[in-house]
Amino acid sequence: MTTELIDAFDEASKVIGRTETLVRVVLSGARRNMTPAAVRIDIRPVLIKDKVLLQVSQNDGRQTTTKNYVPKELKVLELLESGFSNVLVEHTDGSLSIRVTKKNGALVRRDKGENLQQLDHDQSKKRLLDTSDPFLREVGIADAGGKIKPTRQDKYKQVEEFLRLLAPTLIAAIEVGHIHKPTISEPLRVVDLGCGNAYLTFAAHQYLASKNIPVQVVGIDVRPDSRKRNADIAERLGINSTIEFRAEEISQSTAKGADVVIALHACDTATDDAIEWAVKNNAKLILVAPCCHHELQTQMVASPEPWQIVTKYGLLNERFADLLTDALRAHILKLVGYRSEVIEFVGGEHTPRNLMIRAVKTGATPNAEDLKRYEEMVQLWKIKPALAQRLLDE
Ligand SMILES: C[S@@+](CC[C@H](N)C(=O)[O-])C[C@H]1O[C@@H](n2cnc3c(N)ncnc32)[C@H](O)[C@@H]1O
Repeated sequence: MTTELIDAFDEASKVIGRTETLVRVVLSGARRNMTPAAVRIDIRPVLIKDKVLLQVSQNDGRQTTTKNYVPKELKVLELLESGFSNVLVEHTDGSLSIRVTKKNGALVRRDKGENLQQLDHDQSKKRLLDTSDPFLREVGIADAGGKIKPTRQDKYKQVEEFLRLLAPTLIAAIEVGHIHKPTISEPLRVVDLGCGNAYLTFAAHQYLASKNIPVQVVGIDVRPDSRKRNADIAERLGINSTIEFRAEEISQSTAKGADVVIALHACDTATDDAIEWAVKNNAKLILVAPCCHHELQTQMVASPEPWQIVTKYGLLNERFADLLTDALRAHILKLVGYRSEVIEFVGGEHTPRNLMIRAVKTGATPNAEDLKRYEEMVQLWKIKPALAQRLLDE
């Protein structure tokens, strides 16, 4: 039922104000034509020095900042009105959820059920993966005693960073229904394209399993030696019923369907193959960290004026081609029904690239302005990005 948004927010703020029964609040998604200050905000009551405070954790897509407030000092209504499309308020007797419609109405749902209030406050700086997780030892990041090897600190940092970029968006996508709630019979399907030594493939599997999220993971890499090495590790870890590896070209992969697709530092147009595979297999969440780019640069032979100011310098021309490639990838994803963003990701050991495209499927049809912008850009540069050849020609 659609009710007035203000009434719905008013009801939510009253439930949030009752800290004795409040369990948690999640604000996520973006309202039409609004950009909230965070990807997601979590609020929960915490007990500090015998006083109940409200802990507000804001995730900007990369990191989470946490601050505690005396309840009456937190401007709850202001937060609710700051542009999020989904509000979930859990209390000890049930939950209230509000979904803001395109016309700024409110779809309100009230459910009954028991929720447990947890008031401990030291959950903020926790590592997402326990360093004693056996996979870290098996892939060579930790030693036999579960300590991260000094020479593998960078890789470990990359694994943690990747999970921090995956987790909030994934959990929000499940909460708002963009991804089905994973169950044993219908687990979350994760496909890693160009998985290499599968550090991130195993990390995703272990992290999700540690959160009791039923998961089925497939790692694809063209190299048969990678497949064998990774499959052996999965067997030693006793997880080969929920993670498997295939030696295949991304574009020829026999894997079918995925909720989440990751492709990190897959070379050149292998990233475009991965995005194509993800879109055509109806992936709901895509995380790609592009690697080296060559194809667009070779097409950008005649630089339009006044852009020669940039492109006459070889180094700048190269960097500009990289930026244009990734900007067009993110834009093309938007044109095919994804909400895409470009965020920072720590560089891999073989590449200084530190950018990630993160896209969530919304199914929204592209607006005329975005289509026009795309057309103008490719006409100006006389280019046809590899991803457009794969996704827009049809
Ligand atoms: C730089 S490594 C990255 C590995 C892993 N994703 C990571 O971030 O640790 C790139 C991997 O992609 C694989 N690859 C490149 N092009 C591919 C393609 N077209 N199909 C399948 N695998 C590919 C390579 O074999 C290599 O293992």
